[in-house]
Amino acid sequence: MRIDILTLFPQAFLGPFQQSILKRAQQRGLLTLIIHQIRDYALDRHQMTDDVPYGGGEGMVMRPDPIFLAVRSILGTTHTHETDTPVILLTPQGRQLTQGIITELAQYARLLFICGHYEGVDERVRQHLVTDEVSIGDYVLTGGELAAMVVVDAVARFIPGVLGASEGAYHDSYATGLLEGPHYTRPAVFEGWDVPDVLRSGDHARVARWKRDMALKRTLERRPELLAQMALTAEDRVFLDKVQGFSGEPDDA
Ligand code: 6GU
Repeated sequence: MRIDILTLFPQAFLGPFQQSILKRAQQRGLLTLIIHQIRDYALDRHQMTDDVPYGGGEGMVMRPDPIFLAVRSILGTTHTHETDTPVILLTPQGRQLTQGIITELAQYARLLFICGHYEGVDERVRQHLVTDEVSIGDYVLTGGELAAMVVVDAVARFIPGVLGASEGAYHDSYATGLLEGPHYTRPAVFEGWDVPDVLRSGDHARVARWKRDMALKRTLERRPELLAQMALTAEDRVFLDKVQGFSGEPDDA
């Protein structure tokens, strides 16, 4: 997968993209990350990327011309909304990121992200260039850079080969619809607290059932609304009834 990112702060990406799994993915040629300085596409003498808002008001607005030129240079002038590389604006007004959006984006061979800044981006960028707008939650960041890093990290986990076999992205929390249960490693007893016997029993079927039960319990305790959307087996329901008389029905049904 190739991901292009347009930003006024390319240096912000150097740390996160040069560590650990994202570093390894790039070294293996599974992921190509290209960071572009929007200012390089501002052709006026002062290389202006922002300007005062028409109609007045607070702050500055990012100009459309450098952003259009950058996207067209990167994707080619034949690019339209109908072509197959999503052009995604990171903005608190976008659709709120979910694991479902991540798996959707992971299906593409290429993605292009535009990191917004200042008071916002000229509306013509949204209307005539961008094909999608994404937010990472209901709070305001100083710019789209951190949000772009979040999306890239979460998408990269779904590129085949990026995670080791033991790290499979399709099995973890949210992919299964459940939060994962507790994990333990050595020592078997730490400061008097011991690892549950079942995990050391060697009985794979019992271990699998216990893991599923603990995931159900944790999800019920912390994110009951996720359970309500899940397809639960008869065994799952037996366990949930045992822990809290959970029926999946509203209380007054
Ligand atoms: Cl994508 N950008 C900014 N500036 N703030 C945000 C955000 C994005 N998502 C949540 N808050």
